[in-house]
Amino acid sequence: MIRAVDTLLDRTIVPGYTRLGFHLRRTCWTRDDPAAGALRGRTAMVTGANSGIGKSIATRFAALGAATVLAVRDLDRGGRARREILDAVPGADVELAQCDVAEPASVDACADALARDHGTLDVLVHNAGVLPIDRTENSAGHELTLATHVLGPLRLTDRLTPLLASAGDARIIFVASGGMYAQPLPVRDPEYRRGEYRGATAYARTKRMQVAFAPLLDGRLADQGVSVHSMHPGWVDTPGISAALPRFSSALRPAMRTADEGADTAVWLATTTPSPMSGHFWHDRRIRHEHYLRHTRYPEDHLLSLWSYCLDEAGAGLH
Ligand SMILES: NC(=O)c1ccc[n+]([C@@H]2O[C@H](COP(=O)([O-])OP(=O)(O)OC[C@H]3O[C@@H](n4cnc5c(N)ncnc54)[C@H](OP(=O)(O)O)[C@@H]3O)[C@@H](O)[C@H]2O)c1
Repeated sequence: MIRAVDTLLDRTIVPGYTRLGFHLRRTCWTRDDPAAGALRGRTAMVTGANSGIGKSIATRFAALGAATVLAVRDLDRGGRARREILDAVPGADVELAQCDVAEPASVDACADALARDHGTLDVLVHNAGVLPIDRTENSAGHELTLATHVLGPLRLTDRLTPLLASAGDARIIFVASGGMYAQPLPVRDPEYRRGEYRGATAYARTKRMQVAFAPLLDGRLADQGVSVHSMHPGWVDTPGISAALPRFSSALRPAMRTADEGADTAVWLATTTPSPMSGHFWHDRRIRHEHYLRHTRYPEDHLLSLWSYCLDEAGAGLH
C-alpha cells in the first residue's frame, strides 16, 4: 500500500515533488535516518554550499560529525554560510574552500588545497547549479550549464580520485533535477550552439547528463571503493529557484519543500551503511525511473560518445 502511494506520487509529479510527497513518504523512514555521529571521522565536501540545498546538506553533514568543506566560488558568501552553520551546530568542523566549478583552474586549485589539507575525502556532493537567462561561456569556451553541471564535476572528481580512493567507502552524489525528464541527451549539440537558447532547456539537458553519466562514473570508480549516485530533491524553496523561476516559485511556494527536506536524500545516500545501490537515480530515498517519455531514451553509442566528449573537454582521465 505504501509503495503504491509512493509510485502514484512519483507519476503524478506535482504532489510527489512538493512537501506533500516528502511528508507522506517520510512516515516510513524514521528508523532509517542517519545515526548520530554517522560521519564522525569523515571528511565531506559540498559544492555550492553557501546557499539553498547545498547549505542544508553541509549543515547536516556538520551535525553528523563530518569535517565539512564548503566549496564556494565567493568566499564572502561562503564565510556567511559558515558562520550560520556554526551557529546551528556549535563546535562543528567547517571550513571554506574556494571553488568555481565552472572554471578549470579554480577546480584544480581547490583539489590541490584539499589534497594538501586532508588525506582522504569520504563524501563529495556535486550540488552547485545554475539556470542562466542567456547563453554564456566559461573561460574555456564551454556553455555555462555544461561547465557547471558536467565538466566541472568530472574534472573535480578526477582530481580528487586519489583522496576518494583512500577513504575505502567514498560516496559521490550528484544533485540533479526532475527537470531532466523533459530532455534527451544533447548528443549532437552538447554546447547548445544551435537554436534559440533557453536556460531551462540547457539546465534540463545537463541535468540529464548528470543522471546518465553517474552509472558510467560509478563503473570507473567502483574498484577503488567509490560509489556514485544521482538524486533529485523535488521542488525546493531556495534563493536559486526564486531568482531563476520567479513565477513558478511564487505560485508554488506554499507547497514547496524546505531546503532541509530537499537535502534529505543526498544526506541519506552519504550516510547509509551499507552504501545504497550505486549508479542509480534517487528521489525520496528510492530508486526512480530515468525516463517517462519515449523521446528521451538513447542508444548506448550516443551515451558513450557524449561521455567521451565531456571527459576530453573536462580534462578528466576517467575513460
Ligand atoms: N530548488 C529546487 O527546486 C531544485 C530542484 C531540482 C534540482 N535542484 C538543484 O539543487 C542544486 C542546488 O540548487 P538550489 O536550489 O539550492 O539553488 P541556490 O540556492 O542558487 O544554490 C546554488 C548554489 O550553487 C552555487 N554555484 C553556482 N554556480 C557555481 C559555480 N560555478 N561554482 C561554485 N558554486 C556555484 C551558488 O553559488 P553563488 O551563491 O555564488 O551563486 C549556490 O551556492 C542545484 O544543482 C539545482 O540544480 C534544485
